[in-house]
Amino acid sequence: MRNPIFVALDVPSKEAALDLVRDLAPVVAGFKIGSELFTSAGPEITRAIRATGASVFLDLKFHDIPNTVAKAVAAATRLDVQMLTIHTSGGLEMMRAAENSAQETSRQAGRPAPLVLGVTVLTSMDGGTLSELGWKPDVGKQVERLAELAVRAGLRGLVCSPLEIARLRQILPEAIELVTPGIRTGTEKADDQKRTLTPRQAIEAGANWLVIGRPIYAAPNPRAAAEAIEKSLTT
Ligand code: C5P
Repeated sequence: MRNPIFVALDVPSKEAALDLVRDLAPVVAGFKIGSELFTSAGPEITRAIRATGASVFLDLKFHDIPNTVAKAVAAATRLDVQMLTIHTSGGLEMMRAAENSAQETSRQAGRPAPLVLGVTVLTSMDGGTLSELGWKPDVGKQVERLAELAVRAGLRGLVCSPLEIARLRQILPEAIELVTPGIRTGTEKADDQKRTLTPRQAIEAGANWLVIGRPIYAAPNPRAAAEAIEKSLTT
């Protein structure tokens, strides 16, 4: 089995991120860059990570008119990221524009297309939040609806919470790749993640990739923590 671990670099500076990357690149698949790090450190951080050979997941959750999202996806593709996120609630046309842009730009660059991942309902939202937006308050149904729309738009992957993996596996084509945060080993301090699975449970439920932040970067020895997680998947 290939290593499925992407480490969330939820740190504020380029220096802190690169220290983690140097330590962890040999033992994980790649690194997730979110809005905080990208806004402070800029595209240079993605180039620095790619230079180590590790993959980059650019998690900026694009949500705009199709033309603007297509251009942002093209820029991310030229940075040679391997995964990026868009909001499925931007609609069918926006998602199609994003996927087409990833395919076209990577073809021009002579590289495989990055995986454009659809984000459905943020895990910070509940039925009440959906009602406020004028949506039906059933989070599970809304996740399924947006996931099916993403597949119709041609996306090849989705971000989903641990507790959504099994249901999405039932309704989506097998080839759709599922990327899952909210992973906890059971040994770390309690934090704001409420609904979690262990790495092994998430893979067994059908996740392809695991996004893991604090259980690795806040561990006393991040490299040992990453190695132990990978080992836990097979033994
Ligand atoms: O530290 P932790 O393992 O909780 O980090 C999880 C990462 O995944 C963070 O970067 C967080 O923003 C992201 N994420 C999440 N839950 C979602 C979507 C993204 O925890 N539903």
